[in-house]
Amino acid sequence: MFKIIKRENLVPNIHLIKIHAPKIAEKCKPGQFVIIMPDEKGERIPLSIADWDKEEGTITSVFLVVGTSTFKLSRLNAGDSIPSFVGPLGRASEIDNFGTVVCVGGCYGIGAIYPIVKALKEKGNEVITLIDVRSKYLLYWEEKLKKASDEFIVSSRDGSYGFNGYAPEALKDLIQKEKIDRVIVVGCTYLMYKCSETTKPYKIKTTVSLNPIMVDGTGMCGACRVKIGEETKFACVDGPEFDGHSVDWEELFARRKFYFDDEILSLCEWEKRLI
Ligand SMILES: Cc1cc2nc3c(=O)[nH]c(=O)nc-3n(C[C@H](O)[C@H](O)[C@H](O)COP(=O)(O)OP(=O)(O)OC[C@H]3O[C@@H](n4cnc5c(N)ncnc54)[C@H](O)[C@@H]3O)c2cc1C
Ligand code: FES
Repeated sequence: MFKIIKRENLVPNIHLIKIHAPKIAEKCKPGQFVIIMPDEKGERIPLSIADWDKEEGTITSVFLVVGTSTFKLSRLNAGDSIPSFVGPLGRASEIDNFGTVVCVGGCYGIGAIYPIVKALKEKGNEVITLIDVRSKYLLYWEEKLKKASDEFIVSSRDGSYGFNGYAPEALKDLIQKEKIDRVIVVGCTYLMYKCSETTKPYKIKTTVSLNPIMVDGTGMCGACRVKIGEETKFACVDGPEFDGHSVDWEELFARRKFYFDDEILSLCEWEKRLI
């Protein structure tokens, strides 16, 4: 059993969970993820590692409530335990001295981009962090990210804070103003797709952290199959980070919707049990 040290509602529908797992904290690197099971009867879901503390022996993830498992996680509290917590999984982010790097984070990716920002800065890059929010009230970890970055930009789709518009538009503005050597995006699939489309004409290498449906997380089941150029890859072992200009986005969007009806049914069934 793994003990929950903290579970906090950061902004509406987005939660932080900190779990005691010293062996994972000892080994994890930016860009990796864990697979977590909220209860004995639950499914295993992947969550990116947003922070860790080797001394405390803890792993922190940030999650968006979208269905049964994330709903179950959002109801856990400090002192509760979860039956299974596996990691670190996936390949670590490529951390090198690229020059000027724009790190884009949206939704749960605002948390998940943090270790990548920190590591790129430590490696000597000029790091511009660009955060996408629908509105100012959905922004979290502002101070933490500001401290880790050379420049910190928020783009809000309702114009309530920072750049008025969608992050890919703010990214285009940045590219037109200065030389950007690399872009890294973590967040919802549509944000990663749009940022990749934005950088493609400028031939700026863009890395995206893909989030297909996963089951085992060890390359055995094939659930996380993604098409990268002409090749089929498994996001859990070959990724989760891939070249955004080579991803078959249409296939990824379709595969992510594959169990939509079952997911809705599962949530309805589970909610009925709560009433
Ligand atoms: C490597 C990786 C890292 C991830 N990191 C995070 C993270 O840090 N925080 C976070 O909130 N989410 C993250 N996700 C997505 C997260 O795993 C899903 O949101 C979760 O599995 C949904 O489970 P559920 O039972 O709550 O919802 P479900 O009922 O299973 O699904 C509800 C909706 O979410 C979509 N969905 C289902 N499973 C996944 C999945 N595995 N990945 C993406 N979307 C899915 C479905 O298309 C559906 O629309 C990550 C996914 C991957 C593959
Ligand atoms: S989750 Fe099974 S192969 Fe990747």
